[in-house]
Amino acid sequence: RVHSSLYWCWDNGIEEKRIFIDTNKISFPENFLWGTAAASYQCEGPGDKAPVASNWSEWEPAGIKNGQRCGIAVDHYHKYKEDIQLMSTLGCNAYRFSLAWDKIEPIEGQYDEDILAHYHDVLKELHRQSIIPMITFHHFVHPLWFEQSSGFLESSNLEKFVRFSVDMFREFEDECHLWCTINEPEVYVSGCYFNGIFPPGHKAQPNEASLVLQHLLQAHIDVYDSIKTIARQPDQHSIGIVKDIFQFDPCNPLNPLDLYASHILDYAMNGCILDFFRTGHLKWTMPGSVQRTYTNLRAPHTNDFIGLNYYSHFLVQFNLFKKPPFEIVHRHDDSGSALMTDMPYPLYPEGLYRACVRLKNELSRIPIYITENGIADRFDDRRHLFLRRYLYALSRAINEADCDVRGYFYWSLIDNFEWAEGFDMKFGLYDVDLQTQQRTLRDGSKYFQYVIQKHREKY
Ligand code: NOJ
Repeated sequence: RVHSSLYWCWDNGIEEKRIFIDTNKISFPENFLWGTAAASYQCEGPGDKAPVASNWSEWEPAGIKNGQRCGIAVDHYHKYKEDIQLMSTLGCNAYRFSLAWDKIEPIEGQYDEDILAHYHDVLKELHRQSIIPMITFHHFVHPLWFEQSSGFLESSNLEKFVRFSVDMFREFEDECHLWCTINEPEVYVSGCYFNGIFPPGHKAQPNEASLVLQHLLQAHIDVYDSIKTIARQPDQHSIGIVKDIFQFDPCNPLNPLDLYASHILDYAMNGCILDFFRTGHLKWTMPGSVQRTYTNLRAPHTNDFIGLNYYSHFLVQFNLFKKPPFEIVHRHDDSGSALMTDMPYPLYPEGLYRACVRLKNELSRIPIYITENGIADRFDDRRHLFLRRYLYALSRAINEADCDVRGYFYWSLIDNFEWAEGFDMKFGLYDVDLQTQQRTLRDGSKYFQYVIQKHREKY
C-alpha cells in the first residue's frame, strides 16, 4: 500500500507524462493564505453538558456508522487556544470555520450570548496569532426547530437563515472579512434527498433535491445582497459560496453511453450551478424526473470569490443492469492498483487543476480559495504524496493556467467527526487520541509545514 513515487502523473485522457515534483519549483502568490478548514459540528459536536438539538444530533446514532455519536467530537470548543497554537506551529495564516447555528440560536429568535462570546474569543485568539479568519454560515448543520419546519425545503424558511447570517455578520463584521455563505449545496442536497445519508434521510427524491438546491442558491444570493447593503464597509468584505467540484468523467471516453451518463451527472452536480452563477438561469434535470428551472439575474453578481472544495473525481460506466443504469469505477494507476484514500476517492490531483481552470473559464477568472482539500489516511502512508501532488497541481493552475487562486485550506487541522462515517476517517494533519484528546502531528503532514516555510522564506 505504500506509494513512494513522488511523480506527478498527468492523466486526463489527453496527455500522459511523468514529471518529478521539485518542491523548489512550485510557487504561490505573495499574499497567499495558508490555512486549515473545519466545521463546528465536526470538531465541537453538539456538546456534552447541555447538548443542543440539531438536524444532526437527532440523526445520531442510527444514521452513523456503528452507531457512533459525535458528543464533544475532538473538543475544539474548549481546546481552541491549543488548536490555534497548532495552526501557528504549521505556519498557517488563515483558518476557515463555521458558526454553530444550532448552538447560537437553539430557540428560534433567541441568541445565546455565551456562545457568541465564545466565538468572539476564538476570533480574538486568531488575531493574536495573526491568523485570518474565514467564517461559514451553513455547513450542513442547523437548529432542530429549523429542520422540523422542513428546513430548506420550505421557501418561507429561507428568510430565517438569511436573518441569522445577517445578524452574525453584524456581530462579527469588525473581526472577520472573509465569508462563506453555504458549504457544498449540491453535496448537502444529494446527502439529504438523494442517497439519504444525511438527515432527513430521504432517498431518491429528485423533486425535493432540486427544490432544495434552488432554495440554497436563492438563500446565498439573499445573504450576499443583504450583507452588502448593511455592511459599514462593504468593499472590505469578500463573500462567496463554497462549491465542491467532484468531476464525473466517462470511464471509457470513447463509449458514448459512458459519456452520456457522466455528462448527465456532472451537469446535475456541477454544471448547472456554474451555469447559474454565469447566466442567472438554473436548469436542473435528471432523466425520468421533472426538470426544474429557476431564474435570478442577480446570481452572476453575488460571488466575490468561489470557495472550491476538491477531493477527487468519479469514473462513470454505463451499465444497463444497474438502477440507475451506471456505476462508479476507479482508475488504476501505473502500478496496477487504484491509489485510493480511505474514503472511496482515488488520488487525483489533476482534478484540482481541472476544477480551477473550469472555474476560471466559466466564471470570468473569478478569485478562488481552495476552501477544502485533504485526505483520509489512517496509516499516514499517503498523506505526504497527496500533499505533494495536490500542491504541485495547484501551483501549475496558478502559474501556468493563470487561475487567480488566493489561498489553500487543508481539510483538516485535526481528526474530526466525518458525518455518516463517524470518527473512522482520519483527515487530520494532527492525529487526535479520542480518549485523551491529545493532538500529535502526523509525519505525512510535515510536507505542508515545509511548503509554507519555503513560501515564507521567499517573501
Ligand atoms: C467536505 C465537507 O465540507 C466536510 O464537511 C467533510 O468533512 C469533507 N468534505 C471530507 O469528506
